[in-house]
Amino acid sequence: KSFDFDIREGQRSFVYFEAVNYEAKVYLNGELLGAHEGGFTPFQFEVTGKLKTKDNFIVVKVDNKRKKDGIPTLNSDWWNYGGITRSVHVITVPDLHISDYTIALSKDGKNIEGQVVVDGKLTGDKVFLSIPELKKSIELQPESNGVSRFSFKAKPELWSPEQPKLYKVQIQLGTEKITDHIGFRTIETEGYDILLNGKSVFLKGICIHEEAPYKTGRVTSEEEILTLLGWAKELGCNYIRLAHYPHSEKMVKEAERLGLMIWSEIPVYWTVSFGNELTYALAEQQLEEMIMRDKNRAAVVLWGIANETPLSENRFTFLKKLAEKARSLDSSRLITAALDTQSEKNGSKLIDDPLGDVVDVIGINSYCGWYYGEPSSCSDVKWESLYEKPMIMSEIGGGALAGLHGELNERWTEEYMDDVYKYNLEMIDNISFLRGMTPWILMDFRSARRHLKNIQKDFNRKGLISEQGEKKKAFYRLQEYYKNKN
Ligand code: GCU
Repeated sequence: KSFDFDIREGQRSFVYFEAVNYEAKVYLNGELLGAHEGGFTPFQFEVTGKLKTKDNFIVVKVDNKRKKDGIPTLNSDWWNYGGITRSVHVITVPDLHISDYTIALSKDGKNIEGQVVVDGKLTGDKVFLSIPELKKSIELQPESNGVSRFSFKAKPELWSPEQPKLYKVQIQLGTEKITDHIGFRTIETEGYDILLNGKSVFLKGICIHEEAPYKTGRVTSEEEILTLLGWAKELGCNYIRLAHYPHSEKMVKEAERLGLMIWSEIPVYWTVSFGNELTYALAEQQLEEMIMRDKNRAAVVLWGIANETPLSENRFTFLKKLAEKARSLDSSRLITAALDTQSEKNGSKLIDDPLGDVVDVIGINSYCGWYYGEPSSCSDVKWESLYEKPMIMSEIGGGALAGLHGELNERWTEEYMDDVYKYNLEMIDNISFLRGMTPWILMDFRSARRHLKNIQKDFNRKGLISEQGEKKKAFYRLQEYYKNKN
């Protein structure tokens, strides 16, 4: 639709897209502004001087065709919903404006530190940053490159799932005032432990796809976000894995407000073209867009760089470089990947993927009782690791059609799925270096790979809840397990 625009001197304007899946070509009033590739991360184009007072129109040519050399590649187990899947904004800021900021608690927990970046012709203007509730207000003088760094002693109430405390932070430059709500916490690993605010924590989680409950399709409303997160809280989670791509900023902010730690990942999924430099550049671009968007979200504790990628030299080189890039962009969070490359040693599962050397936390996907073995065999499965690092069981589970009941040995019944959970939870209790879990998955989701007649009907049925909100037996088993898990 076309729109009018109030043109004023001394302003700059941008068109900001929250997400367009997959390739976008953006035209303003018939002129090509630019293109973007990647279906789940934000991008923008400057349109200063290109807008008219009346009847501006933006046209976006979107192509969600899957590409072998894309990120993700041709094959993925989720519906490739195409189009402008999140909101579009026309943003106007003063010529000299705040273009970026980072604010966090220092790793030693003693200081609040970060930087504010201003863009435009410096006029000696100062930047003011204040945290009213901490009675803190500082004045910053941007350097010639527009950057002003800060660090000051502070003892804020720390953000945690039990107490998801957020502080109002105000940043002002001239007439421009930005307000954000920031949580302060530390996250690190020590041997097999994950430490939140210096204390070992067990991540009681669940995987979530960006599939809308009830109407299905991509999540587009706050109500759908609150439904999904409400189910995760009802399950007893303190943590969620946003699979397999960055979800909306709103999802991340609401999870933070509700006290849910987050594993956020880019869709380097399955058989990506690891030998292709353009594919690597795409992965790095999406990683940077994800980190730049959510780097101030205390709830995000893990950046996931891959899911179930097959072993190869190219894959190791690609992911090692990606992990290094992630650390260069954000040295404060933990880097992880979901692996399914574990080998067998004397009847035990052995975590020996070379990527274990690269990540901070090792994610393991393992479908005992579903893709291998009988459910009852799972409680005896033992796990060993070459790495003295925390492990998260990033996927376990099985499928059932909600409402389908039958014998324990009847696949696709709720009873069979519940049995898969029963014995996997016993297995999990025997993994001494496990520090978290996100069973696959909160809710059934649409996938073109899943067309078992009368059962899947184009839905992956591993949800603890159907897409119509029907809770399956396994939901209550996991809920009970989390209630008793410290
Ligand atoms: C894989 C993969 C998921 C997929 C799931 C399944 O582990 O990570 O994206 O949906 O298994 O097979 O259901």
